[in-house]
Amino acid sequence: MRHLLSAADLTRDDAVLILDTAAELAAVTDRSVKKLPTLRGRTVVNLFFEDSTRTRISFELAAKRLSADVINFAAKGSSVSKGESLKDTALTLEAMGADAVVIRHGASGAPHRLATSGWIQGSVINAGDGTHEHPTQALLDAFTLRDHLKEAGGDLAGLRVAIVGDILHSRVARSNVLLLRTLGAEVVLVAPPTLMPFGVESWPCEVSYDIDDVLPGVDAVMMLRVQAERMKAAYFPSALEYSRMFGLDVARMSRLPEHAIVLHPGPMNRGMEISADVADSPRAVMVEQVANGVSVRMAVMYLLLGGRQEEI
Ligand code: NCD
Repeated sequence: MRHLLSAADLTRDDAVLILDTAAELAAVTDRSVKKLPTLRGRTVVNLFFEDSTRTRISFELAAKRLSADVINFAAKGSSVSKGESLKDTALTLEAMGADAVVIRHGASGAPHRLATSGWIQGSVINAGDGTHEHPTQALLDAFTLRDHLKEAGGDLAGLRVAIVGDILHSRVARSNVLLLRTLGAEVVLVAPPTLMPFGVESWPCEVSYDIDDVLPGVDAVMMLRVQAERMKAAYFPSALEYSRMFGLDVARMSRLPEHAIVLHPGPMNRGMEISADVADSPRAVMVEQVANGVSVRMAVMYLLLGGRQEEI
């Protein structure tokens, strides 16, 4: 595999290989010297056309831990704000010899265009495209679930995961549904009808409109941010009503089975989809998700750029 564009590109074996490699690489992170020489002399470009905190820093750290040279390119402050196209930006990166381009773009399909256009020779990694996909987020979520719910025995077969919130605008939800299914987990999506995607019946998951009904039967719940920046209309009457109907507070969290964990891809809107006491509770694993994100992205770059196993 040369690119990672969609969670659907991964077979079960591919996904397990990435998660296993990430687990080995996580051990490197625990050493006092955190670097591996694997990608020495290679150049990774972080091409971010949309805002990001965790994903951008995580890819940068992951590439640096593998000794790659990293160039961070944010559209704001570059010639993109002077009107330069994706094509001309890509040709510039190619002329500078990028071995991998990590791209986040507001347009669904931009990473696919970059990978299939012939503009660049290197690997393309999708770091979130519009409302479409965010495969490395799904991988780090799977890693976190596997780590916590070890009785699943290596993969996630038999686990039941609820994904709650703004499914309509969420690339995280799409990639998670695909990857969790590939790994054998059951997924149930929960949202108000206005935030459920058109055609969701054809997705490989269940759909519910009642969070209280779903929580007692799941091993994990993933809360999603209401992505107001992607909304051009009113999708629910008020923030207060949304958080009362679909937000996770302590009373609701107590409906979860005792072993169940709470995930959130970040950034959180405390008080909206998740209350502060839930976000700060021991069942919430957001900080681990961020740490696991570095290991998973190291694994993806390591495998796509042909790292050698004995160097771990
Ligand atoms: C998500 C994204 O950008 O898709 N965040 C992330 O990458 N950790 C979700 C969001 O913005 O709400």
